Amino acid sequence: MSMVVNNSVQSQPSQQLIFLIGFMGCGKSTLGKKVAKKTGYSFIDLDELIVNKIGMSISTYFETYSEASFRAVEQQILHSLKDQTNTIVATGGGAPCYFDNMDWMNQHGKTIYIKLTPKALLSRLSQKEVETRPLIAGKSAEQLLEFITTKLEERIPYYSRAEFIYDGLQSNQKDLIKQIVL
Ligand code: S3P
Repeated sequence: MSMVVNNSVQSQPSQQLIFLIGFMGCGKSTLGKKVAKKTGYSFIDLDELIVNKIGMSISTYFETYSEASFRAVEQQILHSLKDQTNTIVATGGGAPCYFDNMDWMNQHGKTIYIKLTPKALLSRLSQKEVETRPLIAGKSAEQLLEFITTKLEERIPYYSRAEFIYDGLQSNQKDLIKQIVL
């Protein structure tokens, strides 16, 4: 069984807004799109909405403005999703770790943490994907593994507050679908 229920959060059956959370490379968008297709839910990629709003890539935005400014826009766009129904949202890897975003997502929908080890995350982040993500661009494989290990450790306290934890290594999509349509 790859899905673990985190009892600290109470779900409301009427809520049909699903937030997939987890580190860069864990498969939030890939899995979200597949599951949306199978369940008939809509799919939203939070990073894509942000790119549309800011009119530039996230890397350019980080360079031109700052990460802090990006986090403010990220929160604003996240909040704009509150009335969506039957929708799966793939959030950026840092989104749950700023402001009260994790609480907000737990209050407005179901949160599902796609959990993977640093090594698995490393192997899933292709060179192309590394270069489009400002926090990891330009790092060698060794530096990247070190970064992922440290950053993941920092972020686990936020990710662990998800209502459900999905073991990304087992990739049992049926379990995920069950949790979503319940
Ligand atoms: C970030 C993850 C990215 C994107 C931004 C910052 C992070 O999203 O939001 O580059 O802080 O982990 P993905 O998790 O979709 O790569």
